[in-house]
Amino acid sequence: MDVGADLAERLAAVDEVERRALAAIAGARDMQELERVRVEQLGKKGAVSQLLRQMGSLPPDLRPAFGRRANEARRVVEEALERRRRELAAAEKQRRLEAETVDVTLPGRPVRLGRRHPLRRVELEIIEIFRGMGFTVAEGPEVEYDYYNFEALNIPPDHPARDMHDTFYLTDRILLRTHTSPVQVRYMRSKAPELPVRIIAPGRVYRRDDDATHSPMFHQVEGLLVDRGISFAHLKGTLAEFARRMFGERTRYRFRPSYFPFTEPSAEMDVSCPICDGDGCRTCGGTGWIEILGSGMVHPAVLREGGYDPEEVTGFAFGMGPERIAMIKYGIDDLRLFFQNDLRFLRQFA
Ligand code: PHE
Repeated sequence: MDVGADLAERLAAVDEVERRALAAIAGARDMQELERVRVEQLGKKGAVSQLLRQMGSLPPDLRPAFGRRANEARRVVEEALERRRRELAAAEKQRRLEAETVDVTLPGRPVRLGRRHPLRRVELEIIEIFRGMGFTVAEGPEVEYDYYNFEALNIPPDHPARDMHDTFYLTDRILLRTHTSPVQVRYMRSKAPELPVRIIAPGRVYRRDDDATHSPMFHQVEGLLVDRGISFAHLKGTLAEFARRMFGERTRYRFRPSYFPFTEPSAEMDVSCPICDGDGCRTCGGTGWIEILGSGMVHPAVLREGGYDPEEVTGFAFGMGPERIAMIKYGIDDLRLFFQNDLRFLRQFA
């Protein structure tokens, strides 16, 4: 075989290797396939790499021309691989973007905001009114000693007033408080002999009752003011101001004599019905008046239990129910609505 023919044959073989490599590269459909092609062509035992390895076994006079062509084939294949790699990367990115496309015209998911329960709203309103008059908030435990719930409030064991409370007893000395009045004595004991004592005490109370107007758990807000020279006029002025702020400027009020063992004298306060403005309606039972709280001058025995000398100081106290006040304010006729957590009811109090 003469040298020229031998070279032509060998160069044709390089052309063939290059052609196949380019075809394989063009046919690779993803990065993994392309990587396999790269190894097959340019890897240690790859077809293109083999061409260059043949160099050593060639007659020396063929080497320069063959070497140039083989190196050129390797460069061409490398460049084709790099171009295909970029194409596939761009296509993959495009596919990802299309998969992630967000339809911004879809309606959003509604986020429902919570709101305060009507009872908490009323409780806060009561607290704010008294805070404006210098009262601070105090609290006491819902699981209470018989002593604070009754005895310290001038209600000894066989006192008939205990019957009115329908108490849940936990042991014979521990109970669920039936009113917030025990906070009066607890607070006085924690402060005596400091003056003035001026607190409101909101919280849950419990009685064994359950019907349209009674729930076994309900709320009260207690008030207590003790200082030198406090009279019934202070009680009246303070509660009248409260009634005006709570139910409106037009509200009229009246005090009726009443009885509580821990106040003397005692009085219940009525306001003119805010629903009918005193004309008489279902809410006020046709009378035009609605009872909103119990009150009175703190009994000397209670002041003494609290660590104060009834010869030196006097005070007034009151207790009211946010349930009752909310029912009057919003014209609600069934107490149980507050505790059923029916959203159709609760959403009305925006
Ligand atoms: N504790 C009384 C009740 O539950 C209310 C009250 C409080 C009355 C303070 C007078 C003074 O009915």
